[in-house]
Amino acid sequence: MTTSTTFGLGKIILLGEHSVVYGYPALAAALDRGVRIDAVPTPAGGALRIELPAWNLKVDAEDDHSLAHGLAAIADSIGIGRPALTLVGDAQIPAGAGLGASAAFAVAVARALLGHAKRVADANAVAIAASASEAVLHGKPSGVDVALAIAGGIGVFRKQAGLTPFKCTPLRVLVGPSGSPRATAAMVERVAAATGGSRDDRRLHELGAICDTGTGALIGGDLTALGLMMDRAHTLLGELGVSTPLLDGLCKAARDAGAYGAKLTGAGGGGAVIAIAPRDREADVLAAWKKASVTGFVATVGGR
Ligand code: PMV
Repeated sequence: MTTSTTFGLGKIILLGEHSVVYGYPALAAALDRGVRIDAVPTPAGGALRIELPAWNLKVDAEDDHSLAHGLAAIADSIGIGRPALTLVGDAQIPAGAGLGASAAFAVAVARALLGHAKRVADANAVAIAASASEAVLHGKPSGVDVALAIAGGIGVFRKQAGLTPFKCTPLRVLVGPSGSPRATAAMVERVAAATGGSRDDRRLHELGAICDTGTGALIGGDLTALGLMMDRAHTLLGELGVSTPLLDGLCKAARDAGAYGAKLTGAGGGGAVIAIAPRDREADVLAAWKKASVTGFVATVGGR
């Protein structure tokens, strides 16, 4: 019996969530953690199934569960039916936290099933298969999560052009999973309601401009300016209806503890916040979050 191991990485969006759905750029970076899958053939036969104890997940592809639907969508996209295969997974990021867990899952599964089918698993083939799961789970995803889950690193993502990676001095980002669940599709719909679905909405437009300015600040090493852009982005996302009092409170706590800036990351409505801070203030930010029962961590992104 042979097993093979595949990965998909989690991500953070530094600037540009939601506006990216409307064609504006997003500055995003892969985390150094995500979802790992071991594909174990079951020669005696049986269903295509997945077990991922970290997320309490144990389902067949035919079960009525969102990730089972995702698994089935990937298998259908590849056209391999339902092979007798058990996908045994491990996750180092929480599900539903805005850290790209569903895309990391989809990419790891897509790579596993393409490998099992002895098909080419290049970035394009993986993106097509993984996007089938994201479409089931999220409606109309921009593709930023899948792009980062595949490529790693840091870059600017645009719906039309995909990911443009770049190199920068490694950036330490404080990540605070709030523990409050949220649904990406519902948040995307909320923004559509707030903007009338128009990319000309001034808040979407400003979020796009902020992404450009913030990317320049990051590349130029100006973390004060990047922090200001993050703060402004959080305010605009709040105006679009995707922040919550909990996320606002965690961002304020980070700023009060000396962060350069802080914002929600991902779809919002719950999920995670991120902050950047001078090195000697990082512990204060993490301590302030801990007081709010949020265990944060430091992710080093970029720099490859
Ligand atoms: O699923 P999340 O929380 O990582 O959010 C994805 C980012 C959005 O811009 C809100 C949606 C998208 O498809 O880009």
